[in-house]
Amino acid sequence: MSTRHGPAADPARAESYLPGGALGANANVEGCRFAVASASGPYITDTDGNRYLDYVTGAGALILGHQHPAVVEAVVRQAGRTMHQYGALTDVAIELASRLVDAIPCAERIVFATTGSEATAYSMRLARAVTGRDLIVKFEGGFHGNHDYAGIAVASPTTADYPTGKPFTAGTPEPVRDTMLVVPYNDLEALDRLVTPVLDRVAGIIAEPVQRIIPPLPGFLEGLRRFCDRHGLLLIFDEVVTGFRLSYQGAQGHFGVTPDLAAFGKIIGGGGTLSCVAGRADLIDRTSPRLKGTPRFVYTSGTFHGNPLSAAAGLATLEILRRPGFYEDLADRTRRLSLRLTDVLEAHGRRAMVAVAGSLWQILHIDRPPERYADLLSSDQEANRRLDRALLANGINVIPGLRRFVSLVHSDEHFETTARALDRACRESDGNHDPAGGPG
Ligand SMILES: Cc1ncc(COP(=O)(O)O)c(C=O)c1O
Repeated sequence: MSTRHGPAADPARAESYLPGGALGANANVEGCRFAVASASGPYITDTDGNRYLDYVTGAGALILGHQHPAVVEAVVRQAGRTMHQYGALTDVAIELASRLVDAIPCAERIVFATTGSEATAYSMRLARAVTGRDLIVKFEGGFHGNHDYAGIAVASPTTADYPTGKPFTAGTPEPVRDTMLVVPYNDLEALDRLVTPVLDRVAGIIAEPVQRIIPPLPGFLEGLRRFCDRHGLLLIFDEVVTGFRLSYQGAQGHFGVTPDLAAFGKIIGGGGTLSCVAGRADLIDRTSPRLKGTPRFVYTSGTFHGNPLSAAAGLATLEILRRPGFYEDLADRTRRLSLRLTDVLEAHGRRAMVAVAGSLWQILHIDRPPERYADLLSSDQEANRRLDRALLANGINVIPGLRRFVSLVHSDEHFETTARALDRACRESDGNHDPAGGPG
């Protein structure tokens, strides 16, 4: 693969100190390694001075793009006041909490955490504590973060042996795996069949309202709500990606289905580390320090929970997101990008489509929009990744195989740049393209 963008500045240095010379499982694709030196608007610039048009945007956290002036100003101002809060309350944390409660339909209260993973872990802990039951239902291919419970049936090369899923990381204790029931997404009949036999042991259902790039089929989220109500289970939405991305009220506002609990992260910290669990007061209040020492107490505490730098960045971000028309405009832009990219794919005769959900998008070598994890497995994953790698080599920052994000600062001009890069990427990866290829 050709790389117009040169090798990373001193990648050997990263190799010496960081496993695989990377910061995480998805970072730094082989052959396209670079270290970010600065970022601005829709661009990131590496240490060699190469500029990339960025659609990773902090894994979706940076909905206003990089270094938005209002966010930078809020963080600098906050840094001059206080950067930490441990053991105390801050004015910005109270203000952000009130904004979140105002915006999020399920939120009578929120409890802050630091990462999306913590927020989903706390949600599951709360559901287990409140119901006194151990099992949690999750959907196959759904991602809820880096903890053991979240890591079941996330990215297996084959479908699960429902309701048992495989862990995606070594080191997961078998008893943890056995507390997670795995069900195919968008399939209420399978939910009923697989979960009904063990209902008296089930605490709740956790779902990404849009699972990766797969939107819910009409009636699916409503069906989850009904199932939980009928059987006394708690419904948890993982809104770490969809929160303040699909609408100011999150996916729950967008789809009109209110969960009992919801995990938020990414955007609420404006690019800083901050997350929360939102939900009914009677549930969230189980984390109140006033309950400490009683059997009702659910522990949710951490050194960086509710961090004021992130809270200030989050407040500045929300101020812009609440402007009328923000989300319609973002979805319109994403549609325009997807039409432009679809033209290019068609011109190359690719059996591929641009999957879109709000401002999320991804190019998939697949015949029809995916409805569940098995559909993603049946797409030509090697072709997906090869094309994504070629896009990256042509200056478009995407993580191969993962969905990506349009932000406030992406415009038609950038979409043209992306279309031209896709045209080149198609030509460069056409040589090895096997239209009949199976799952990678
Ligand atoms: C839907 C979803 N849930 C949870 C997480 C975990 O969030 P974090 O990486 O902040 O721990 C992610 C991260 O991308 C996510 O996409």
